[in-house]
Amino acid sequence: MLKKVLIMVIMGAIGPTGCKSNLPEEKGAKMGITKESFGKTQDGQTADLFTLTNANGLSAKITNYGGIVTSLMVPDRNGKMDDIALGYENIDKYIESSPYFGALIGRYGNRIANGRFTLDGAEYTLAQNDGQNHLHGGNKGFDKVLWEAEEIKTADSVGLKLTYLSKDMEEGYPGNLSCTVIYSLTNDNELKIEYQAETDKATVINLTHHSYFNLAGHSSGNILGHELTLTADNFTPVDDTLIPTGEIKAVKDTPMDFTSPTAIGARIAQVKGGYDHNYVLNNSDGSMALAARVYEPKTGRVMEISTTEPGIQFYSGNFLDGTNKGKGAVYNTHSGFCLETQHFPDSPNKPDFPSVVLKPGQKYSHLIVHKFSTK
Ligand code: GLA
Repeated sequence: MLKKVLIMVIMGAIGPTGCKSNLPEEKGAKMGITKESFGKTQDGQTADLFTLTNANGLSAKITNYGGIVTSLMVPDRNGKMDDIALGYENIDKYIESSPYFGALIGRYGNRIANGRFTLDGAEYTLAQNDGQNHLHGGNKGFDKVLWEAEEIKTADSVGLKLTYLSKDMEEGYPGNLSCTVIYSLTNDNELKIEYQAETDKATVINLTHHSYFNLAGHSSGNILGHELTLTADNFTPVDDTLIPTGEIKAVKDTPMDFTSPTAIGARIAQVKGGYDHNYVLNNSDGSMALAARVYEPKTGRVMEISTTEPGIQFYSGNFLDGTNKGKGAVYNTHSGFCLETQHFPDSPNKPDFPSVVLKPGQKYSHLIVHKFSTK
């Protein structure tokens, strides 16, 4: 009898799969990649959904439709996994209406004033899909195209290589732009995104990633209690249509200052419309450097973002209004935040900002690492 009870106690603690419940399920997790259908695009092509799982049990679901990260399971300080990425459970919702949840953004992350720019004496006209301005690549940006996908496995990571050829004049941009994006989930609990692109005609390019994070869980309410640190002493102020004025302004003594850990909600009421600004990172030489750290006090989750890019858009989910419902949750204002590593908005019209021009023979590259831990 005693033996039976003992066995039951042990079984209860370990669980049917042989891994302890609550304490890192991840210990027994199997590193690998699985693939399932994610449904059909509007033109009838089949999209796939890949689940990447690392040796610690962290997992990322990524579809080749828009290169969208639909879910990201990360442990809290007790080892409890939660999905920390806002998103939808099926492709139809992404097609119907998505504020770029988890998507790859191209050819140009953020805004280009009046949907126009001049390059080498030629004027290019782009879609004005955000009031008078151009936003996130236009009507059918990289978030809405089907990428070729290839699974990648190494000794310490699982990944997905996505490729897409954006044809000359697609969405108004010059040049055949051949793009590769490699997502990898490493056993150091990092989600890495590596961009590469080449063109056959001079063009402008600013690729980024648009996950909305809520480190307490995607359905846990607002992110105002998250503590944010940005390694940025300056930001680019914007006009009423969110186009940079061209000024580089110090954050010191303003509600924009996140140079030391500060709750997102602490001064948000003093920022008209909430945070939706490009920060000028202190490191601007193209090497990898820490750009942001976010800490969620209830769960202890920490996310650190490093990048090679000179800027980061901090967006506090201001336009979420409860109309987007995903994975059983209703996404209200500030349900998630985005930290989009990038070149500065409207750079094609701002000669003083770091250049976004890509010429034939040059290689565009951009690396983002999201590192997850707890404290
Ligand atoms: C970016 C922009 C925001 C908004 C979101 C998508 O972060 O800066 O203004 O357009 O994307 O809703």
